[in-house]
Amino acid sequence: MDSSSNGSEESQLYHAQIHLYKHIYSFINSMALKSAVELGIADAIHNHGKPMTLTELASSLKLHPSKVSVLYRLLRLLTHNGFFAKTTLMNGKEGEEETTYSLTPPSMLLISGKSTCLSPFVSGVLHPCRLNVWHSSKKWLTEDKELSLFESARGETFWDYLNKDTESDELSMFQEAMAADSQIFNLALKECNHVFEGLESIVDVGGGRGGFTKLIHEAFPDLKCTVFDQPQVVANLSGDENLKFVGGDMFESIPSADAVLLKWILHDWNDELSLKILENCKKAISGKGKKGKVIIIDISIDETSDNHETNELKLDFDFMMMTLLNGKEREKKEWEKLILDAGFSSYKITPICGFKSIIEVYP
Ligand SMILES: C[S@@+](CC[C@H](N)C(=O)[O-])C[C@H]1O[C@@H](n2cnc3c(N)ncnc32)[C@H](O)[C@@H]1O
Repeated sequence: MDSSSNGSEESQLYHAQIHLYKHIYSFINSMALKSAVELGIADAIHNHGKPMTLTELASSLKLHPSKVSVLYRLLRLLTHNGFFAKTTLMNGKEGEEETTYSLTPPSMLLISGKSTCLSPFVSGVLHPCRLNVWHSSKKWLTEDKELSLFESARGETFWDYLNKDTESDELSMFQEAMAADSQIFNLALKECNHVFEGLESIVDVGGGRGGFTKLIHEAFPDLKCTVFDQPQVVANLSGDENLKFVGGDMFESIPSADAVLLKWILHDWNDELSLKILENCKKAISGKGKKGKVIIIDISIDETSDNHETNELKLDFDFMMMTLLNGKEREKKEWEKLILDAGFSSYKITPICGFKSIIEVYP
């Protein structure tokens, strides 16, 4: 009898080893994806206009001939991971098999120049400055300081690092990544039009360079929109009569409006600082009566109803926010506490975009 299939001790051990090794090597999936982005594989296939053979792809990417077999193995892994699709046909003339590679929905999100291109997200999250700090996690976990892993390892916060040089690639890459994420959200805007209907003004706090606000502005041209962010982020940006850019500090005060939008903001901060932001939001909508509300777009962890993949992604995001910024993704009960502690009376959570939620918060 085959001992590997009867739940024997050996079988458990083999499975345990596979599980362990899979997690040890899972960084290879991330780095292979990064290589694909740096090489521009998705662009090459997209620009070719039809599926490409290995030789065509290697030539288009200008790889050294000695690296064709490396490309084959990179594509084999990425195809296994769902980023490319492989088709093998008999080649009519020579009677040989010919394999071609085409894009799949995830790799279509890597085509440059498209508004939904998430390549800057790949390059940003997998940037060496973010990866290197992980080697300091023991020091971070054993020291008595309330710092993020990033700050503990580098002696500067992630925001200071991004803002050090306003022309830096990192700041642009970060803002580009955020803008691409917002474009994806555009699809969801149609599902949640009701959230913005009836409002006369809205301020997008930490709105970056206005990627998301511009989408709201297009959908609701009469709505007076303000993008509020750090002065160096909104410097030199101009809008129109109903789209303004204002520099400031959300921990000091927030411009007044019917609604305050916080997209991907509160997960950057711990509870104490998030409370401060929410209190300033409450002041910004005070005097707006029943119309006034805060619209939070963030993750809400729900381990009981999310499927394994979605839950894993949310937990990964949580770990990233903690290590990068001392921030956190919150469970429903944590959202409730934060919202009520800030003096709001009620809230409504609606899941959106597969893994995010819109949380409408009322005074
Ligand atoms: C994670 S990004 C989110 C950007 C945007 N809301 C989006 O979803 O695309 C966080 C934003 O908060 C801004 N920010 C950080 N500290 C701030 C502060 N004290 N006052 C205003 N904005 C701030 C950053 O510049 C950045 O644009």
